[in-house]
Amino acid sequence: RTLETLGDLAGRTVLIRCDFNVPLEDGRITDEGRIVASLPTLRALLEQGARVVAMSHLGRPKGAPEERYSLAPVAARLGELLGQEVAFAADTVGEDAQRVRIALQDGQLALLENLRFDPRETSKDAGERAELAAELAAGADVFVSDGFGVVHREQASVLEVAQALPSAAGLLVAKELEVLSRLTESPERPYAVVLGGSKVSDKLGVIEHLLPRVDRLVIGGGMLFTFLRALGHDVASSLLEEDQVERVLGYMKQAEELGVQLLLPTDVVVAEGFSADAAHETVATDAIGASRFGAKGIGLDIGPDSAAAFAEAIRTSRTVFWNGPMGVFEMPAFAHGTKAVAQALTEVDGLAVVGGGDSAAAVRGLGFDDAAFGHISTGGGASLEFLEGARLPGLEVLGW
Ligand code: 3PG
Repeated sequence: RTLETLGDLAGRTVLIRCDFNVPLEDGRITDEGRIVASLPTLRALLEQGARVVAMSHLGRPKGAPEERYSLAPVAARLGELLGQEVAFAADTVGEDAQRVRIALQDGQLALLENLRFDPRETSKDAGERAELAAELAAGADVFVSDGFGVVHREQASVLEVAQALPSAAGLLVAKELEVLSRLTESPERPYAVVLGGSKVSDKLGVIEHLLPRVDRLVIGGGMLFTFLRALGHDVASSLLEEDQVERVLGYMKQAEELGVQLLLPTDVVVAEGFSADAAHETVATDAIGASRFGAKGIGLDIGPDSAAAFAEAIRTSRTVFWNGPMGVFEMPAFAHGTKAVAQALTEVDGLAVVGGGDSAAAVRGLGFDDAAFGHISTGGGASLEFLEGARLPGLEVLGW
């Protein structure tokens, strides 16, 4: 169900789920990609004269208000980008939210405070979620689901709200699906998926489902050390999920049986500690424990040989999906691997997609222009689950 199916929205109150989960540093937004990506739908609604109530989560607060997770900075930036005032409600379904909603005029926009300040948003109990959804839906005529980054979550503002009101996907969700479907429906080959990042367990789970679909699987970032451990290497103090080693061995075997090229780094940058100015050196992946930092050594980036090999595998593929930085890109000394991968994606003769908040922030932070890539997806976990062919509750409920 697309936006048009909701009919004329002039004068109607539209509740919209966005994903404004943006990175913040001392209250300053460091990458506003997700806010910018939500503008077309918001503008389309406001131009029709709808009264728009936007909602989102930010970070992972534990079901109670926490200043550092307030959406107030997002409301301010959204107002600047839209060129109109955005009323900010200091709560989600409380008195202030009511006040703000009632005061809305046609063509005006309000943003509610962080949904995850209410424990019912992420509750495992569907009844509790439905209760919050009913409170969110009260006073609204329709619901628009445009937070692509959360459509894989079974949460009140994603699933139950869509059941409580006439609902449809927004323009961002529709666009994301159009591009990502090109990856799942007969992608041009070779098809490479590049995985990195720090949400290791989350990412390991998708490998099993991706392996039968791809020609090349490139592994960097935090999860690479679990692979190196599976190969029997000492990874010193690097990020390691010891209990996942068996599983990783299984993936290696599966890749071999399927004829999938599994690319692991051959060298890594090992540092003395986790800090931007830590002493560091490049060593072969089987010599991490023998670096000059001994057992204290911590791998923070892939090495130059690996970066060159990864870049070559990416450049010579016709379809590429990349999720997760190769190293700690926020620290310049450990950003080279991520930069090499990003650069290679811009040189792909075919479709190159960057997926996820962190990867998108990385490419922008490293000075790349959005236009250099085929598509920058606003969803990390959501885009990966979509590529795996998993059922996404927030899409299913809209009939997608
Ligand atoms: C994301 O950053 O991937 C989305 O905003 C979802 O956030 P979550 O992983 O905390 O649910």
